[in-house]
Amino acid sequence: MPEAQIALIDGAAALAEKIRARTARVGVIGLGYVGLPLAVEFANAGFSVTGIDVSEAKTEKVNAGVSYVGDVPDAELSRLRSSGRLRAVTDFSVIAELDTINICVPTPLRKTKDPDMSYIVSACQEIAKYCHPGMLIILESTTYPGTTDELVLPMLAEAGLEVGKDFFLCFSPERVDPGNPKYQTRNIPKVVGGVTEACTEIGRIFYAQALETVVPVSSTQVAEMVKLLENTFRLINIGLVNEIALMCDRMRINVWEVIDAAATKPFGFVPFYPGPGLGGHCIPIDPFYLSWKSKQAGIEARFIELAGYINGQMPHFVVDKVQNALNDVGKPVKGSRIHVMGVAYKRDIDDMRESPALDVMLLLQNRGGVMSYSDPHVPVLRLDGLHLDSQPESAAAGADCVVIITDHSAFDYAALLERASLIVDSRNAMKGRSSGKIVRL
Ligand SMILES: NC(=O)c1ccc[n+]([C@@H]2O[C@H](COP(=O)([O-])OP(=O)(O)OC[C@H]3O[C@@H](n4cnc5c(N)ncnc54)[C@H](O)[C@@H]3O)[C@@H](O)[C@H]2O)c1
Repeated sequence: MPEAQIALIDGAAALAEKIRARTARVGVIGLGYVGLPLAVEFANAGFSVTGIDVSEAKTEKVNAGVSYVGDVPDAELSRLRSSGRLRAVTDFSVIAELDTINICVPTPLRKTKDPDMSYIVSACQEIAKYCHPGMLIILESTTYPGTTDELVLPMLAEAGLEVGKDFFLCFSPERVDPGNPKYQTRNIPKVVGGVTEACTEIGRIFYAQALETVVPVSSTQVAEMVKLLENTFRLINIGLVNEIALMCDRMRINVWEVIDAAATKPFGFVPFYPGPGLGGHCIPIDPFYLSWKSKQAGIEARFIELAGYINGQMPHFVVDKVQNALNDVGKPVKGSRIHVMGVAYKRDIDDMRESPALDVMLLLQNRGGVMSYSDPHVPVLRLDGLHLDSQPESAAAGADCVVIITDHSAFDYAALLERASLIVDSRNAMKGRSSGKIVRL
């Protein structure tokens, strides 16, 4: 990456100099799965970092060196606290002392599937109060194309500062993959696009201090769209493979074997795998930010709607599999003890957001199933009418049916096969094991 792509002058040059010298005071708003690892990377790179969150519980934990994000070890947090390079606060007035701000607040959907921009708006209202000349502000929350220019910029410009001259505004999509040991904040290439060329250049210089690869793009809209393309690509391919799984089930073909064999093609095929439904804060949600915006531009996002529909059917498909499997052994769902293995939305993490396990468990409970679960990452489940505590894996022995929803690597699958009388496996976790007890997706 060339060191400087455009010549910076005046306030831009001064800010770039502070960033390069690591004397810029870095702020991160929203200390969740995205913001905390980012704050840690910049503190590790030698910056003085202030995390700002509305949750006192979170700021207290950060200040006590106690991590609540799987990818950030307690030891790392404690070390950065002791060195004085990281602190967390709930008081937004510290923004007056900061030179850079990364906004990493939630962007959920409303019940109507419209974007909920209230967290971004509230963070920007606080920034606008304390914004001062010479600041770099970067929105990282996933959002619809146009947010940075149409929503964030007018709010910040109200303070009377000129973008590209007095302050610098960028969008940079966050691509973190919680629980991925190979790719973490530091080595995932970072795309950044600014409102002006100077904004992009300062954004590029900023990330280059702490992250391995920075990919500048020509505008905030391009940067916003990059993230939505990536997540829509996943949503649609998962929808496609789920539909293939439904077809294979009808035709009595093992879909897992089909995918593994197709994946031997060295070009032109990327394997995706079926499952009990989509989970997490990104894939089930972000594409609907795009479809909402594209509707305003007069284009119906038909692939997105279709994939959303097919993926939404998967929990029902798993529930039908459980019902049929129990029927085959002469037991109705009503009154049967059904034990779920894994409730987090994906393997080896503790995040329950949008987890399909909740849908599957509630649907089975509504049909009269008596539910229990084991998940080493989720000790208690207190959601939507489910009030359960995680049981030891041995609890599978007493169940009429075990349903594997999340294939955590900590589970002892050989022991599970011994213990369980019937297993519905929605993740191919029992791959390579053959038994009449196993019903695959
Ligand atoms: N989690 C992921 O894997 C992931 C990956 C890529 C992108 N994203 C995107 O990044 C953004 C953040 O996601 P996350 O998973 O870190 O969310 P999160 O819920 O884990 O963290 C968000 C944090 O923001 C805080 N917060 C809420 N409103 C605030 C406000 N007004 N001011 C200050 N703090 C506030 C919350 O207390 C919370 O600690 C979202 O837009 C999400 O779509 C998430």
